[in-house]
Amino acid sequence: MSVTTLVLDWFDDSKRELPFRNTTNPYLIWLSEIMLQQTQVKTVIPYYKKWIKKYPSIQSVANARQSELLKCWEGLGYYARCRNFHESARIILKNHDGIIPSNWEEFRSLPGVGDYTAAAVLSIAFKQPIPAIDGNARRVMARVLGLRKFSKRNMSIMKSTLCKWIHETRPGDFNQAIMDIGACICFPTNPDCMSCPINNYCKAFISGNPVRYPLKKKHKKIPNHTVVAGIIWRRNQFLIQKRYTNGMLGGLWEFPGGKVEPGEPLIDALKREIKEECGIRTKIIKQVGFINHAYSHFSITLYLYHCKTKGEPLAQKRTHKWITPGEIEKYAFPKANHKLFAILNNYGWYI
Ligand code: ADE
Repeated sequence: MSVTTLVLDWFDDSKRELPFRNTTNPYLIWLSEIMLQQTQVKTVIPYYKKWIKKYPSIQSVANARQSELLKCWEGLGYYARCRNFHESARIILKNHDGIIPSNWEEFRSLPGVGDYTAAAVLSIAFKQPIPAIDGNARRVMARVLGLRKFSKRNMSIMKSTLCKWIHETRPGDFNQAIMDIGACICFPTNPDCMSCPINNYCKAFISGNPVRYPLKKKHKKIPNHTVVAGIIWRRNQFLIQKRYTNGMLGGLWEFPGGKVEPGEPLIDALKREIKEECGIRTKIIKQVGFINHAYSHFSITLYLYHCKTKGEPLAQKRTHKWITPGEIEKYAFPKANHKLFAILNNYGWYI
């Protein structure tokens, strides 16, 4: 039997049942593919279900406020995905009469749509025979073809092989089958080769030592930054500020604060950051606690202090708000801030 038939037969018997499968609605497929970038399926599922209840169509996304969408995305991470999806939805309403384009150039040019996402959506929703190569598919193909490096040349060999193998009328299923084989069988370590439908075609399996493929990249040590933040009280309210829209965690709210300079005392750093960001002087009362949090390229140790102020932030109301602890539900905060909320919920919010 051909690779294509073996792969599709396996998919029909063993595919993962996921809430975004069994639909050809391009909006739902696109949303799921965006959520699945850098994020595990089991993390995505509850977010996906909640999102489609609130936003059942591309129009409903385009008409929503960014703050509302970020609240629904809160905790999923990589928030640029959400901001880009919003911008794309608006472009589609404005320039494409609300119809998601099925043309490669038009769809690929939308914000946040890369080669993988375009290939996945166009193959699954519009049955276009374009290979979608995510991290799982890359590992499967490296093993099948006996390639150790993800060089440009090797990537192009993988792509042209998949172009030959992809099924003409079921390209989306074929792409998803290769990815599912990667997720469920062809694990990075301890691959379950005996369950693999294409082990007879796999150079890595035939070599007897499949984990030699692909070459493992050395894990770079990620730096840790010390960060301070203040819960700045004025009567029963404290101050939150909105992060710049385009940067990391853009559009989310946080306690004012920032990075500690090397050798700088934590308290000095906090006073300096609050002065720089909000233009107010604060009295630092006491430490609430600290948390650790890992992002993709660095980690932080974040110390939170109870503070008091008499001042009013210089910035506009749009970026700084006084809220009570009961109002945190209304705003989207980064995960690191939620870890601080957990400490405050445990030990009490007030000084
Ligand atoms: N990873 C990202 N999108 C996927 C899909 N549609 N099927 C399987 N794995 C995936």
